[in-house]
Amino acid sequence: MPATVIVGAQWGDEGKGKIVDLLAQRSDLVCRYQGGPNAGHTITVDGRVYKLRHLPSGIVSGKECVIGAGCVVDPEELVHELDDLEGRGIATDRVRLSGNAHLIMPWHRTIDQASERRLGRLQIGTTRRGIGPAYADKAARLGIRVQDLLDTKILRQKIEVALAEKNVWLERVYGAPPLDLDELAARYEGYAQRLRPYVADTSLLVDRALRQGKRVLFEGAQGTLLDLDHGTYPFVTSSNPVAAAAAVSLGIGPTRIDAVIGVAKAYVTRVGEGPFPTEIEGEEQEQVRRLGAEYGTVTGRERRCGWLDLVALRYAARVNGFTSLALTKLDVLSTFPRLPVCVRYRLRDGSETAEFPAHQSDFHHCRPVYEALPGWREPIQGIDSFRRLPAAARRYVEFVEAAVGVPVTLVGTGADREQVLARGELAAA
Ligand code: IMP
Repeated sequence: MPATVIVGAQWGDEGKGKIVDLLAQRSDLVCRYQGGPNAGHTITVDGRVYKLRHLPSGIVSGKECVIGAGCVVDPEELVHELDDLEGRGIATDRVRLSGNAHLIMPWHRTIDQASERRLGRLQIGTTRRGIGPAYADKAARLGIRVQDLLDTKILRQKIEVALAEKNVWLERVYGAPPLDLDELAARYEGYAQRLRPYVADTSLLVDRALRQGKRVLFEGAQGTLLDLDHGTYPFVTSSNPVAAAAAVSLGIGPTRIDAVIGVAKAYVTRVGEGPFPTEIEGEEQEQVRRLGAEYGTVTGRERRCGWLDLVALRYAARVNGFTSLALTKLDVLSTFPRLPVCVRYRLRDGSETAEFPAHQSDFHHCRPVYEALPGWREPIQGIDSFRRLPAAARRYVEFVEAAVGVPVTLVGTGADREQVLARGELAAA
C-alpha cells in the first residue's frame, strides 16, 4: 500500500516501533506525525537496542525520515538523538524536519513538572517533557517553531517575547527561577546551527513522493486512548495519535491514505493515571509486567498491566478506520492457563454494553465482563509461521479478529525483528 498509517490501538507502548521498523524495509519514506520526546520507541536489530524519541523508527533502516508539522520537537533532545545515532554509525542526512513543527522550550518542561506537582493527587502522570505546555502555546499562537531556528535574529526576538511572559509565570505562579535571555539565545543558536540542514517543506516532499508512487509510512506515537479528542480525557496526551492526524500533520489530504494498521498488544498496558477497566488484580499483574518487561522507555515507570480489552479495541478500530491489526507480544501470555478477554462493560446501572462509553463517568465506573480463553502453556518465540502456533494461540488471535471485525495480519512473538509472523496479504508479499 503506497500510504500506510501505523497507529497505537491502546494507551501507547503497543510495540509500534518494531512494526514500523519491519514495514520500513518495504517503504521509501517514514514520517512521524505527532507527539515529541514523550514517545520512546525501542527497536532491537541483531541484538543491538535503539531507543528513539523524535525520529521515526525507519532511521535504523536508512530510510528518508520526516518529522511532521504536528510534532513538537525538543531541540536539545533531537540533537542528542542525532549525535547518538551518528556515533553508532547510522547516517542521519536523510532526516527532514517540518518548519511548522513547534519547539519545546525549557519553560515548557518546567511548567509541565511544576503543574503536575501542583495537581498532586489529581495529576495526569505526564512524562514531564513539556508536551502539554508546548501544544498549549501552539494553540494559543504563542509558540516558537522549527522555522524560527533559521534566523538568529528572529529566534532571539521570539525567545525574548516569550520570556517576558513566561518568567512571570515561572516566578510568581510556579516559584521557579527565571530564565536568562542571553544564555538561552546562545544555547538555542547552537542547536539551530546543528538542525538547520534538516529543515524542509515536508508537505511538498510527501506529496511528491506519493505522486511518484513511492511507499510512505506514517508513524503515530502514543495510542488511540491517549488521543486529546477521542481518548480518556483528561488522562491523555496533548496531540492526536488517531490515524486522521497523519494527513493533518504532513499536509496531505485524507483521501491519500490507503491503509491504517492498528497495533495492539495481546494484553493492555497503561502508564500514568486514569481509568483502566481491565487492569489485573493481584499477582498476575506483576507476572505480566515481568514477562513483558513493562517498564517505560522514557520515564522508567512501571506500566500498569491488564487483560485484553476488546471493547476498547473495537472503539479504536472505529475512530481510526483500521484496515488490519498487528497483535504484539503474544509470547508474554504463554504461561497463563486461562486468558480472560473483556468482551463487554457492565455499567453502574447493571446494564451491559459492547460499545465504548461516550461519557467519562460511565467509563470510570464500568466493570469488565470477561470471556476466558484457554492458554497454550508452551513457548512460541521460535515458531516461524502462524499455522505452526499452538491451536489455543491461533484461537486467541482469531477470537480478536472476529470480535474487532478486522484481520490480524501480523503477530508478535518476541522482541527481535524476525519474531513477527505475517498472515494473509503480508505473508504473500
Ligand atoms: P504527556 O504526553 O507527557 O503529556 O503525558 C500524558 C499522558 O500520556 C500520560 O498518561 C503519559 O504517561 C502518557 N504517555 C505519553 N507518552 C506516552 C508513550 O509513549 N507511551 C505511553 N504513554 C504515554
